[in-house]
Amino acid sequence: MTRLFPILVTGGAGFIGSHACKALSLAGYLPVTVDNLSTGHADAVKWGPFVNADVRDQSALGETIREHGIKAVMHFAASAYVGESVDRPVFYYDNNAGGMISLINACVGTGIEQIVLSSSCATYGTPADCPIRENTPQAPINPYGRSKLMCEEMLRDCSAAHGLRFAALRYFNAAGADPEGELCERHDPETHLLPLALQAASGQRGPLQVFGTDYPTRDGSCERDYIHVSDLARGHVLAAGYLAAGGPSTALNLGSGTGHTVFEVLAAIQRVTGAPVPHKQARRRPGDPPSLTADATLASETLGFRTERSGLEQIISDAAPSFGLADARKARDGRHAAE
Ligand code: UFG
Repeated sequence: MTRLFPILVTGGAGFIGSHACKALSLAGYLPVTVDNLSTGHADAVKWGPFVNADVRDQSALGETIREHGIKAVMHFAASAYVGESVDRPVFYYDNNAGGMISLINACVGTGIEQIVLSSSCATYGTPADCPIRENTPQAPINPYGRSKLMCEEMLRDCSAAHGLRFAALRYFNAAGADPEGELCERHDPETHLLPLALQAASGQRGPLQVFGTDYPTRDGSCERDYIHVSDLARGHVLAAGYLAAGGPSTALNLGSGTGHTVFEVLAAIQRVTGAPVPHKQARRRPGDPPSLTADATLASETLGFRTERSGLEQIISDAAPSFGLADARKARDGRHAAE
């Protein structure tokens, strides 16, 4: 019997971490989740063992690594609300930077040398130019972004000192849901555009506030690069394979390369589901850069990474069922086929 390659997934009960566990399992790895369930969901851990522990608990990490014969790590466990990070900076530095220290110590103590880090385009702050390349200066504008940059810098230093190798994956806006319906996006509180807009479209909440309509973009609303969570998950599997094959430490953007404004997202939701998104204009949200889009060429060259489901309508179509909405285009096509 072949033994699966056991990989530690911190934050494996969260939105992106759980999708990564599914992708890892499909690729022949055994994902071993460590998660304190502060924001994750135990029922999202379906593809391997679950250890209920905080990533800052170094001895729990060490025990898990030894018990399961872990060979590599994917590190998702972190707090990820930009606004909250402005209000509670110490909590963010403690959880995100502190979690990274604990994990590095556990890895150095057990001889683990390969780490895939969940990093963010928030490390770039408000870039002078888009699309953003990896050599765009990293100048975060909030504690969340700074905490992720600290994680990258710690890994860089430890790479030199301890022979660790890492892939820091700087994602743009993760969205969508598992196409087979096994996982979905469930944040509490929800702050992300797509789930909020789908909830507004299905009547589960009041009108969506469009934060800022006076930005220097096509229609005045903010532009973002939305990447399907399943594409992101595959990017992580490719990064794990790259490190396992001896690849040197690297930092890579993971995005679709295409920007969509808030108004374009609302129009696409109506096109896909048939339901208009009730909305009203609101003031700018502090800390929102006008436009963030990725140049993902390096990820393509380094990992062979290509997005497969990151067209905006595909993302919406996959996310809609978890908000009680259907892809109205499929129903129409079905009717036409039956006629
Ligand atoms: N938006 C609205 N109304 C809402 C919610 C969002 O207009 O009710 C707008 C925001 O202003 C922004 C866009 O929709 O322009 C996307 O906002 P999200 O909150 O969905 O995502 P962010 O771009 O703020 O955040 C994402 C990740 C963070 C990461 C950040 C980097 O969720 O983890 O990108 O900028 F740090």
